Amino acid sequence: MKSKKPSTSYTVQTDIVLPSETNSLNHLFGGELLSRMDRAASIAARRHCNQIVVTASVNHVSFSKPIPQNSVVSVVAKVSRAFKTSMEVIIDVFIENPETEQKEQANQGIYTFVAVDNSMKPVAVPAIIPETKEEQLRFKAALRRKQLSLVLAGRLDPKDATALKAIFE
Ligand SMILES: CC(C)(COP(=O)(O)OP(=O)(O)OC[C@H]1O[C@@H](n2cnc3c(N)ncnc32)[C@H](O)[C@@H]1OP(=O)(O)O)[C@@H](O)C(=O)NCCC(=O)NCCS
Repeated sequence: MKSKKPSTSYTVQTDIVLPSETNSLNHLFGGELLSRMDRAASIAARRHCNQIVVTASVNHVSFSKPIPQNSVVSVVAKVSRAFKTSMEVIIDVFIENPETEQKEQANQGIYTFVAVDNSMKPVAVPAIIPETKEEQLRFKAALRRKQLSLVLAGRLDPKDATALKAIFE
């Protein structure tokens, strides 16, 4: 299977924040943002592997800044690392001011997707070759995040989490 570049999966979803999508403080409701992230990230994963994908895990989400009603929000997703059948996708969320063309990062999420066949059996995905400095850093750290996610899910014994242990040695 031919390797891919992270840029192949690059996905941007831009939309506004409607009143029905806000909480009582008139900020974007967290669950709505998670849904937007999941949609963009699943497209990125499909672009990488050209297969059906399912969300296996939401590894990390930081809601750093509230997003006010009527904001223009861009959800930018890219595969950071591909393993055997799973892919880590990093989603960066920006608030954009179309009048000033300024952009500020509001949130970040890290999701894991698994490529599956029609009977939900995991199938192999292409390897990924990071190009930019940021892609290389994200690629390197992805193994630690995968092992942490597997430990938290009870799928990996902490003593076998070699990449995690290496941080403390
Ligand atoms: C995701 C799913 C297909 C995994 O199936 P499985 O039988 O557990 O398969 P495996 O144990 O072979 O795991 C498949 C891959 O997922 C990875 N994985 C599974 N759970 C994970 C987790 N919590 N965090 C990170 N990776 C995970 C495994 O490490 C493996 O990766 P690799 O092949 O790249 O090394 C299965 O759990 C599923 O169908 N879940 C429901 C998905 C869904 O419906 N999502 C929508 C939200 S409702």
